[in-house]
Amino acid sequence: MRIYPTLFKLFFKPMDPEKAHHLGMWGVKTLRATGVTRWGGRFFSPDPSLSTEVMGIRFPSPFGIAAGFDKGGTAIVALGNLGFGHIEIGTITGQAQPGNPQPRLFRLLEDRAIVNRMGFNNNGAADTGPRVAAARADLDAEYRGKVRPVIGINIGKTKVVELDQAIEDYLISTRILAPQADYLAVNVSSPNTPGLRDLQAIETLEPLLAAVRAEADRVVLGRRVPLVVKIAPDLADEDIRDLAAMALRLGLDGIIATNTTIAREGLELITPMDKVMELGAGGLSGEPLKHRSLEVLKLLKAEVGDKLALISVGGVTTAQDVAERLDAGADLVQGYTAFIYQGPLWAAHINRELLKLRKAS
Ligand code: FNR
Repeated sequence: MRIYPTLFKLFFKPMDPEKAHHLGMWGVKTLRATGVTRWGGRFFSPDPSLSTEVMGIRFPSPFGIAAGFDKGGTAIVALGNLGFGHIEIGTITGQAQPGNPQPRLFRLLEDRAIVNRMGFNNNGAADTGPRVAAARADLDAEYRGKVRPVIGINIGKTKVVELDQAIEDYLISTRILAPQADYLAVNVSSPNTPGLRDLQAIETLEPLLAAVRAEADRVVLGRRVPLVVKIAPDLADEDIRDLAAMALRLGLDGIIATNTTIAREGLELITPMDKVMELGAGGLSGEPLKHRSLEVLKLLKAEVGDKLALISVGGVTTAQDVAERLDAGADLVQGYTAFIYQGPLWAAHINRELLKLRKAS
């Protein structure tokens, strides 16, 4: 864990954050391509006692990487090799799209946070499907006889598609991607696609999720692909309770909470507010999101008990953070922003520390 802070300071920090992201992705893939993760297999692989079954799927660890890091599913196996128990790829949309104009990714270093308005830049479902199929086959071969990292696929709405046509757009992705997904996540909570979050209203969300469920059942035979919905931290508590009730009604498998926040006030940011405001619109992630994310998890747990899987994400940095989420009722935990600040050994480190915490208790 010592080399990375220096690397970050020398290379990543002065670099445009989006370029740094591409370099980071290259680094992750290189660790696999050069055999480093294979030689260090014992270090990177989660201890078998961390394995957990959620939504009928066996995960090698409860800790995974959240959507947005591997948008196109180009580094699934490499990320699995680093110790992530699941890799949620995407968000992928029905049609390919470039996302918002750059710059669209900003670091708040003192806050260990990120503001992004990427806007679902991705190559679309048709391009992504075959790549994920190949990654699945690679994982199956590489982890034969062991619990392999799980592939989640997160789908969203294409920007140019009108809201009243959203269902058909999600169904394009479902048709192509559900057969490749261990679980499917419907994203209605990113702040960077105009109107997307309006789909969180029960009257629009319920038919959308029902349609995705039916389509997944139609195209995937022989197994039931678990379906989860990813929600925003900015929903009012009452709306979160209503949403949980709807998820139970529909027989969803789980809820991912939360996406990034559009809030800037009340987050105890260290970065001066005028600097934060200068960055403009976007979703804020990382440590400032921690409090609300945990709060939403507790709200959901009180509503759904053990009837749904809860996947907690937002401001998770340490194994203690992961343990806190699990103790608060999460079945799985995800992270993204801290990966940027902690480096490639992050997942392996969390898995090892989690094991120590379990042995100590
Ligand atoms: C994200 N996140 C995200 N979520 C999603 O469902 N689809 C996406 O495409 C993206 N894209 C994305 C890009 C960037 C640059 C960031 C930082 C985040 C949100 C992410 O999955 C997660 O919900 C939040 O970032 C909160 O977790 P962390 O980052 O605080 O651990």
